[in-house]
Amino acid sequence: MTLHEVRQKYLEFFKAHGHVVIPSSSLVPQNDPTTLFTGSGMQPLVPYLLGKNHPAGARLVDSQKCFRSMDIEEVGDNRHTTFFEMLGNWSLGDYFKQEQIPWMFEFLVNELGLDANHLYITCFIGAPEYGISKDTEAAELWQKLFTQKGIEAQIADIDTEENGYKRGMKPGERIFYYEGKKNWWNRGKTGPETTPVGDPCGPDSEMFYEFTDVEHDTKFGEHCHPNCDCGRFMEIGNNVFMAYRKEDASTFTPLEHPNIDHGSGLERIAAAVMNSSDVFPVAHATILSYLEEISKKTYASDKRSFRIIADHMKAAVFLIADGVLPSNADQGYFVRRLIRRSVRQADKLGINVASFAKIVRPVVDMYKDAYPDIGTKAEEIEKVIGDEEERFRTTLSRGMKEFERFIGQGNLSAQDAYQLVTTYGFPLELIIEEAGEKGIKQIDIEGFKELLKQHQDLSRSGSEQKFKGGLADTAEKTVRLHTAHHILLKALQLVLGPEVHQRGSNITQERLRIDFNYVGKMTDEQKREVERIVNEKIQEDIPVVRTEMSLEEADKLGAEHEFGAKYPERVSVYSVGPLDSAFSIEFCGGPHVEHTGELLKSGSVFKIQKEEAVAQGVRRIKAVLE
Ligand code: ALA
Repeated sequence: MTLHEVRQKYLEFFKAHGHVVIPSSSLVPQNDPTTLFTGSGMQPLVPYLLGKNHPAGARLVDSQKCFRSMDIEEVGDNRHTTFFEMLGNWSLGDYFKQEQIPWMFEFLVNELGLDANHLYITCFIGAPEYGISKDTEAAELWQKLFTQKGIEAQIADIDTEENGYKRGMKPGERIFYYEGKKNWWNRGKTGPETTPVGDPCGPDSEMFYEFTDVEHDTKFGEHCHPNCDCGRFMEIGNNVFMAYRKEDASTFTPLEHPNIDHGSGLERIAAAVMNSSDVFPVAHATILSYLEEISKKTYASDKRSFRIIADHMKAAVFLIADGVLPSNADQGYFVRRLIRRSVRQADKLGINVASFAKIVRPVVDMYKDAYPDIGTKAEEIEKVIGDEEERFRTTLSRGMKEFERFIGQGNLSAQDAYQLVTTYGFPLELIIEEAGEKGIKQIDIEGFKELLKQHQDLSRSGSEQKFKGGLADTAEKTVRLHTAHHILLKALQLVLGPEVHQRGSNITQERLRIDFNYVGKMTDEQKREVERIVNEKIQEDIPVVRTEMSLEEADKLGAEHEFGAKYPERVSVYSVGPLDSAFSIEFCGGPHVEHTGELLKSGSVFKIQKEEAVAQGVRRIKAVLE
């Protein structure tokens, strides 16, 4: 069974149980400044899990693209990836565990044909200090399902990690309550104590698949058990019984209508179905064979390098398609790291420079049906990756010369390392590696970090000064075009996608100019639709409101800000419409008109004059009011 078949079966199974299939959200979260990337299926649904009505109803199912930046360093073993798809089904205050548990069992065992003898379950042990009891209901529901299949499924407590799992699992035991509150879910670091105030949360029940061909490795502890990291057990999914909202540090209020938040790693489920303890041959097969072809090496002989390239290039393709370009800040920094790490591994494998960017192709082939935008943006993506590779190679050769010069004396000072990183863009990890190879033991990493911090503080205070907003002057006509500029940016997001953000602007009395990230050329229809929206908002004569607030509040409101810019603690925000129902909200120093209807004074219509590329993945629009 392929990934695509597993995904399809899941969506159809839940559709048959009254769910509406919703599309995957962008990898770049909208209106959620707390996190750079979408890392789970529930993230885009938080407002609905907290009670807002979802337009598609109370039963939803999807396969959400996810990126977990914190896993970058983990990639290389048989199951960690930074990019994956999370199969998710949700009950927004509708059904609960009595339905979810039997459905999951049926889906895994009957639909996918997974051997239930190798399925293991964990449940929440309870948090009496918060009045939350042990989840015996979930454990018993699972037990009944196993028993019906004639499979022994005893329920047991298992000891804590601190004790090194001294007890291990006994024969016949299948369902475990982990001491130490493992089975609790919330966004961020999980656990009742660390749940953010205001967030939905609750006990969960995880499902594990056992690979019998993997021997337990005592490096990971004396005994094996479902949460052991030796690779014998792999977590394939999690059912969150989202029954609470954290009210304050010590109070969890039961939700009036509890939710189900189910998440399963698509790649991991597929690996379990194929009974392959290695996820890569299942989820990256076409990429691995392409790498074998161009490197003349085999996956079996160079697993770590193959896995890093396969994961990172797949992640980079999806991130670039969602509008993230390599850069030194925010999301872009991770795309840069993914590509640069892949280049280094490709070099290790002896992959020809001319072939590197083409690794995009097997990724595109694999996903273009499920994610059509990957297909249409393929060429642009390959170009972005190729350009970044080139930049990196230039950096490397320049940096290497400096590096050699610095180490002439046999050591590398903090100042040298700082100069290599900031002036030559030489990666710190590479400095450490190269220094190790050259037998240099002394690198002042702490001193380097201190210098870096000083540098960052300095550039932060510098950027607070240049907060002017790209206006040539403050003539009436310029001000009207400035307001049009805000409406335009929002219209672009509505038409091209929420990942579009401003990359630069310049406004004169005659015209406005906006640069924004977008991979591809706008179609005529898209341009007409953008114009239509802007003109509609002008006609609606909406008030334009200035509010001063803390940076944190502005971020919470999802106020738009210029990419890479740093802002002071208190900021000025302009909204088109009152804050609670605004069409657009932007960090901005003004000035603006008071009502959008004033834009009619300059002429009758907003018109796009030109749309063109200014840099890889950055488009420019010039527009007028005429
Ligand atoms: N939201 C849950 C998770 O990510 C399902 O594990």
